[in-house]
Amino acid sequence: MNINENYLHLQDSYLFITIAKKIAEYQAKNPGCPVIRMGIGDVTLPLAPVVVEAMGRAVMEMGRAETFRGYGPEQGYDFLRRAIANHYARKGVGLGEDEIFVSDGAKSDLGNILDIVGAGNTVLIPDPVYPAYVDTNIMAGHRIAYMDGNMGNGFLPLPDPYSERDRDRKADIIYLCSPNNPTGAVYNKEQLALWVGYALENDALILFDSAYEAFVRDEGLPTSIYQVSGAEKCAIEVCSLSKTAGFTGVRCGYTVVPRALERGGVSLGKLWLRRQTTKFNGVPYIVQRGAEAAFSDEGLTQNRSNIDYYRGNARIIAERLTQLGIWFTGGVNAPYIWLRCPDGVSSWAFFDRLLDRSHVVGTPGAGFGKNGEGFFRLSAFGRREDTLAAMERFTL
Ligand code: MLT
Repeated sequence: MNINENYLHLQDSYLFITIAKKIAEYQAKNPGCPVIRMGIGDVTLPLAPVVVEAMGRAVMEMGRAETFRGYGPEQGYDFLRRAIANHYARKGVGLGEDEIFVSDGAKSDLGNILDIVGAGNTVLIPDPVYPAYVDTNIMAGHRIAYMDGNMGNGFLPLPDPYSERDRDRKADIIYLCSPNNPTGAVYNKEQLALWVGYALENDALILFDSAYEAFVRDEGLPTSIYQVSGAEKCAIEVCSLSKTAGFTGVRCGYTVVPRALERGGVSLGKLWLRRQTTKFNGVPYIVQRGAEAAFSDEGLTQNRSNIDYYRGNARIIAERLTQLGIWFTGGVNAPYIWLRCPDGVSSWAFFDRLLDRSHVVGTPGAGFGKNGEGFFRLSAFGRREDTLAAMERFTL
């Protein structure tokens, strides 16, 4: 057999695996060293009580013959799709339940969605960026063009249809993530409208990752691309409960493919359903009941208080960086703080230095692309006591 040679173009290991290996090596050399992890954006607070109760009831149902359930609908149970549609209705976005597809998380869907995309597309990806977008497109052998995020544009690249850059690399698929991973920057409605306009004009598709939408607190900022009119004709939105409801270990997300989204007279929702029904057997009933509870009024209130806790951590990090005179952005409507490495050191050198001097782990910006070089990401998803201790130790 032949292997998929595209895999040979990937880096040896996925960013967060490389970091985990480095921490393990450091701990083996320095046993008992109290390392604080602010690298991968993994939640630390337990699930909201209302979610736990709902999952507990679902477990009991699965243990009784009258209420036991086997395979569920691949695209998710109606009760959860209804709850997600209601969540969008609160944002002023009207969605039909048939436009919502429940999944085991945003990362899987962002990779899997490439199954319905033809060969020969040019994929426009911001740099710096969540590395899964790049890796999945390399695996699929797609042509990737990068758009620069930098201090000049607030790490929010915009379309520039008249420039040489975009003439050469007319995008067919555009990845956007807002609030952004890794920089914490957030597009406003006018900026997203420019992207929607560009996509409509060029017949392109936007893949919008809204995994961090629950962190947005500024009323004027969008939490869904569908808050911009016309997006239903050019955008797929992928979201998850990992960061909004602490589901990183539970696994549940969803993808919205609007009915109005068609290419060449073919409905993309129809293709996605076809893909899912063949390759996916759905998310466990117990998990979907938990997710439904997360979207209830009580669930949203309980999760909002968890998110406020993480936002409190972000404020603690921001205060310390300000004290130290380090340039940073993010951390207000996002759980990530994006800082400039001091003294012009490279981001991996700063990783080693911080681990060595302060026993704190972060994520080197270079892991998110070439424009991340010289920057560093800190996650606010830790425990409060760890965040405080890490910032006390944080030295340059
Ligand atoms: C991150 O740290 O960038 C995220 O936790 C990764 C993810 O969501 O898969």
